[in-house]
Amino acid sequence: MTSRLPADLTVVVPCYNEVLNVAPLVRALDAALLQRRWEVVFVDDHSPDGTAQAVRELAQQDPRVRIIERVGRRGLSSAVIEGVLSSSAPVVAVMDGDLQHDETTLNKLVAPIFSGDADIMVASRHLAGGDSSGLANRWRHLLSQAGIRLAQIMLPYPLTDPMSGFFAVRRELFDEAAPKLVGSGFKILLELVLSVGRGARIAEAPSVFRPRLAGESKLSPLVMFQFLGMLVERACGGWLPTRFVVFAAVGLIGVLVNLAATDIARFSGCEFNKAQMIGMACAIIANFQLNNRITYYDRRLKGVRWWPGFILFVAGCSLGGIANIGVAQLVYDSAGHWTRSSAAGAVIGVVWNYVVASTLVWR
Ligand code: GDD
Ligand code: MN
Repeated sequence: MTSRLPADLTVVVPCYNEVLNVAPLVRALDAALLQRRWEVVFVDDHSPDGTAQAVRELAQQDPRVRIIERVGRRGLSSAVIEGVLSSSAPVVAVMDGDLQHDETTLNKLVAPIFSGDADIMVASRHLAGGDSSGLANRWRHLLSQAGIRLAQIMLPYPLTDPMSGFFAVRRELFDEAAPKLVGSGFKILLELVLSVGRGARIAEAPSVFRPRLAGESKLSPLVMFQFLGMLVERACGGWLPTRFVVFAAVGLIGVLVNLAATDIARFSGCEFNKAQMIGMACAIIANFQLNNRITYYDRRLKGVRWWPGFILFVAGCSLGGIANIGVAQLVYDSAGHWTRSSAAGAVIGVVWNYVVASTLVWR
């Protein structure tokens, strides 16, 4: 069934709750890669549906199937990074584990890398011959387009589909880029392209994006938030951590919640002070929840750990509020400039709250 020679192509497949899709995918690879000595590495994050067990059963029958199972961690990009780094083959391909990527494109992706004509090959839904009809709905289409525009501004290469999750790369090139990869969110290709030098040869091949048949998509608002955070981090040359950017964005949402809740309370007849208090309370609760689910999703507080975390957060942020007002007053006293003083106060307040959140609340 298999040759004894080591694989020269590793297909890395991140998967989470794809139990029904893994066996059909291995069969599809088998049919599509007849000419290659391939292996497949599934990187599963301890899916509750038993994906890892299903892969291990396949691996018992087929030595070309491998698994990396991670416990206590989540994330598409970091799963891909670990899968690629586990490979000893000269060429690595990355594809989704839900059968949405057309496996017959694989040969077109890897051939130019084997022949030395390209370093990275991207399967594009937006080249002639490609198709993205598998995107779940109009909303996903719009988001996808917006993301592509945004990404293209930053890219040194004119890629038509920089958000593709389907690509192949020369293993050595990946090694050079690996230390620079942040690995949060979904957009591993974009990160990779931004991390390799300008000399890298990158090309695209058209591919059809199929609809999903079993299981469901994990692309959530959280993932999109991480994407924006990643772009800002990159745009700032890496010195502003993604987490801080997300934290600050959540803070801005908190300000909006505060204003809206205060207004609603006022219009329902509360007096000024009481309305202010209600606004503050809503903003703090909203901020805590959003940070718990988005900014610190990987250290999320649940059950009995929720309350102590919440109380620490409120206490820490109150101190942050005092620091905010203090600094603003100080700058105002020495410079007499209204906007500059509040801006200085706000920056100190956010940084303070971030330090409290990262070191005390979500350790
Ligand atoms: N290990 C691991 N951990 N795998 C994950 C995780 C995770 O946290 N989240 C998702 N995956 C796996 C899924 O099981 C699937 O095999 C693959 O990553 C893609 O996830 P989907 O949830 O199916 O993503 P999608 O179909 O909405 O998005 C695809 O299209 C986007 C462009 O529209 C992906 O290919 C994206 O990378 C791509 O940008
Ligand atoms: Mn999918």
